[in-house]
Amino acid sequence: MGKVISLLNHKGGVGKTTSTINIGAGLVALGKKVLLVDLDPQANLTLSLGIPRQKVTIYESLRGDSELIPYTVKPNLDVIISSLDLSGAEMELINEAGREYLLRELFEPVVGEYDFILIDCPPSLGLLTLNALTSSHFIIIPLQTEFLALQGLTKIKQVIDKVRVRLNKSVHIIGVVATMYDSRKILNRDVVDTIKKFFGKRVFETMIRDNISLAEAPSKRVDIFEYSPGSIGAQDYLALSKEILERVENGVLKEESEPSGE
Ligand SMILES: Nc1ncnc2c1ncn2[C@@H]1O[C@H](COP(=O)(O)OP(=O)(O)OP(=O)(O)O)[C@@H](O)[C@H]1O
Ligand SMILES: [Mg+2]
Repeated sequence: MGKVISLLNHKGGVGKTTSTINIGAGLVALGKKVLLVDLDPQANLTLSLGIPRQKVTIYESLRGDSELIPYTVKPNLDVIISSLDLSGAEMELINEAGREYLLRELFEPVVGEYDFILIDCPPSLGLLTLNALTSSHFIIIPLQTEFLALQGLTKIKQVIDKVRVRLNKSVHIIGVVATMYDSRKILNRDVVDTIKKFFGKRVFETMIRDNISLAEAPSKRVDIFEYSPGSIGAQDYLALSKEILERVENGVLKEESEPSGE
């Protein structure tokens, strides 16, 4: 059965979408079959891969009007697209019975077809994100290596703890990844030290360096491996994808070393 991973951080612009796309493409390069789910009304993932508007998006499916309809981007890489309509979903679904379980139900018929399902969460901790966490086995938290990177992490931790008590006992943080890292900047190095103090062994050894190709690839509507396979960005995301596979396959860090506080 496929493993479901949410890319989560309610802070905006930390690299959730970039990581979802390029970890997904990295796992495909490593021989896995992957489904990406765009759960953000901004639809950045959908737009970054140049997927034309389809009749059915995640919005129609969450409303119960359709099953999930994956769009194939390239062999072994499918996407559930989003659209701006999704911005109304949190309000519309607020009175729906079992509203936190809608995505999990939608996954049931497709989860066996993939090795991994990666969910690109919106920059908020509302109902859409709760649906992501309720459906997930694992969480990856991307953190931008800048001042205030850790601000708000206590809130994420509280939400994850509540989800574990009330909605999904088995979800846990498989790793924290530092993004947009520039080793020349003392501040970036200091922030990484702080992240490591807070999250310990959960921090992935691979850090995603600041790399212009990663920012350019979406303008060509492709992932980093298609856009610039020799780039630092491609190297970093391939290394990260390997680490993720190891952690998933070896079950490392299962319940040990939960972060203890801010
Ligand atoms: N390693 C990197 N090097 C350079 N630019 C990057 C890198 N990672 C991401 N970016 C750029 O930073 C911006 C924010 O990244 P991204 O959209 O992935 O963040 P996000 O967390 O999904 O944002 P949001 O919260 O708005 O959904 C984008 O323009 C992206 O191209
Ligand atoms: Mg995003």
